[in-house]
Amino acid sequence: MKYIIANWKMNHDFDQTDQWLNIFLEKYNRDYEKISKQNIILCPPLTLIDYIDSELMEDGFSMLESFAKKHNKSVEDFTPEQFNQIVFESRIIKLGAQDCSNYESGSYTGQVSAKMLRDVGCEYVIIGHSERRKNQFEDDQILAQKIKIAIKNSLTPIFCIGENEQLRKQNQYLEFVCNQIDLAIDKQYEYKKILIAYEPIWAIGTGNNASLEQIKEMIEAIKNHLDKNFKNIQEFAIIYGGSVNQKNSAEILKIKNLDGLLVGSASLNAEEFIEIAKS
Ligand code: PGA
Repeated sequence: MKYIIANWKMNHDFDQTDQWLNIFLEKYNRDYEKISKQNIILCPPLTLIDYIDSELMEDGFSMLESFAKKHNKSVEDFTPEQFNQIVFESRIIKLGAQDCSNYESGSYTGQVSAKMLRDVGCEYVIIGHSERRKNQFEDDQILAQKIKIAIKNSLTPIFCIGENEQLRKQNQYLEFVCNQIDLAIDKQYEYKKILIAYEPIWAIGTGNNASLEQIKEMIEAIKNHLDKNFKNIQEFAIIYGGSVNQKNSAEILKIKNLDGLLVGSASLNAEEFIEIAKS
């Protein structure tokens, strides 16, 4: 099962979201065999999360009803936690946020906590995207706090790392990326599950994806680094992001030890996104 993750960034209003969901669900049903094998995660803007959650919840209710029937129970027999668990697990699209606060709660105007995200149906959260590192000046210390808070609140972090063009030219990219991991993940802390997204900055939104060789080399380096130094992470997956589209996704997904894709602009189009999920 591969992770196919859509990062909508700051795009799509309600109408566009409705259209996207309609197309996605129709095509999903048509290509159920192929797509249901993937772990599909949608990371929309914050304002759309609750809406998409309730749209998907309708599916969840009917899932719950049939689950209850199968186990000779009624829907009322389930606690809210069990209910959430069953609904989350049965969802065809999982929900993720694009960021969370590094604080639990309090006077932090404009911020949204990991718990709040979990409450509106998120199971994942992107942390440390290069656009946030650059535009919101997020440093390694803040990212380390965010990863811990996400895990504590039952969100799986999708932690983004990647070098810029200069570091690649100077041949310092492997060291730089491993160091990004060291700075944000605490070796003394117990982490349940983390997704590591390798996103070279020069490949994001440029149409210039990393070559298969470049991705392969980096995935191996990250995997070795995690295997060797982070026994405190119970489960990790490594994915690639940066100008992924329906033309290059199948080849990229064949790379050994690569567990999925983080897709930006190509995920805005439901048809293209579903082709990527099928590949
Ligand atoms: P892109 O974005 O697919 O548009 O390059 C990827 C990302 O920023 O996650």
